[in-house]
Amino acid sequence: MQLWLCPLLAFLLGSIPFGLFIARMKGIDIRQHGSGNIGATNVLRVVGKKHGITCLILDALKGFIPTLLAITLIRFEGQNTAFTFHGLLDQGYVFPLADQWKAQTLHVVAGLCSILGHNYSPWVGFKGGKGIATSAGVLIALAPLVVPVLIVAWLLIFLISRYVSVASIGAAALLPFVVIYGSWRHGKLASGEWNKPLFIFSVVIAVLAIWKHRTNIKRLMEGTESRFERKKKAVS
Ligand code: G3P
Repeated sequence: MQLWLCPLLAFLLGSIPFGLFIARMKGIDIRQHGSGNIGATNVLRVVGKKHGITCLILDALKGFIPTLLAITLIRFEGQNTAFTFHGLLDQGYVFPLADQWKAQTLHVVAGLCSILGHNYSPWVGFKGGKGIATSAGVLIALAPLVVPVLIVAWLLIFLISRYVSVASIGAAALLPFVVIYGSWRHGKLASGEWNKPLFIFSVVIAVLAIWKHRTNIKRLMEGTESRFERKKKAVS
């Protein structure tokens, strides 16, 4: 087992275009419909709710699984763990690193690679999705406490605006602030023990998510962005 296999595996898993496959099973080329995006929102919009939710879960899992694998296998010496990894360690499957920041960097690199795999999937001509579900999966593994805050923010923005893209951009922009607030709240900012690679990662994926939503931003400015309207109650 080689250290570089983790990010490579993450990229390959991330690059699986689940949205494309799910829609294709219904005879639809998702790239030709709705926003043209291969992500869960467009699958939900074009194919249906059940398929959209399936896509959301699969896209999140392809971020979560390789990141969790990296966190499990790449450890710094002295890292507290509920498990013992002696068997795996002896076989060379676990990488104990002397520096905490090196382990943290490799964890975020694995997460980033799965998001890049999704956003720039070679199987769809490097034009993948926007990485929101995959980023959520990565964050569940890297910083689970951050995720509920972002979900609440996402829901609030969506309920007010009815635009998924606005909610996604808002949650992405909020991410670095939530990460830094968490470090400050736990006193790690003052002691200098905060997870700097995680903060840099949060800034990078926030910028990446906003960049990937540039066509949505253009449509929002032109007033042509697709909106999820509230279902009107039937009048009897
Ligand atoms: O996560 C993607 C979402 O924010 C926007 O999707 O299909 O409306 O471009 P879409």
